[in-house]
Amino acid sequence: MSQKVEPPLAVLFVCLGNICRSPMAEGAFRKAAQNAGLECRVDSVGTAGYHIGESPDPRAIATALNHGVNISDFKGRQLAPSDFEGFTHIFALDTANLAGIRSRAPRGAECQITLLLDSVPGREGQTVADPYYGDEDDFERVWSDISLAVEHVVEQLKGGG
Ligand code: 4NP
Repeated sequence: MSQKVEPPLAVLFVCLGNICRSPMAEGAFRKAAQNAGLECRVDSVGTAGYHIGESPDPRAIATALNHGVNISDFKGRQLAPSDFEGFTHIFALDTANLAGIRSRAPRGAECQITLLLDSVPGREGQTVADPYYGDEDDFERVWSDISLAVEHVVEQLKGGG
């Protein structure tokens, strides 16, 4: 009888530009996973290619740093077809990007593609609001949503889900 071999966990966070929300999610998740002893590959990308190779937005860097997470060396990358094979879990930061990811998924892709806030009981279907045209308070709200969500994701992944 053949046994199903589970792939190593690999988690990808996806927003539009990969300079605000998804790098913050990547940083927050790295910290939460490390604290929980969860071994996992982690990355973030944008569905758009506006900021390929760029550092995160200075407001995202500052907000993360205020919470003890350094994301200053991250570099923008765009979602690629190979990501659907390279990652086991893809988390969209909002519903528009969730639709964009799903529309690009190759037929037969086995990775799990979900909305990040679906991981938080009572927040299902909600979007992490785009802070790009906002202010520092908007970035702080993003951090609050993201840090709550990644704690739930880490717990779920530790439990095998
Ligand atoms: P993000 O925010 O998707 O959270 O990285 C944005 C970054 C850049 C743009 C829009 C949203 N932009 O239009 O360049």
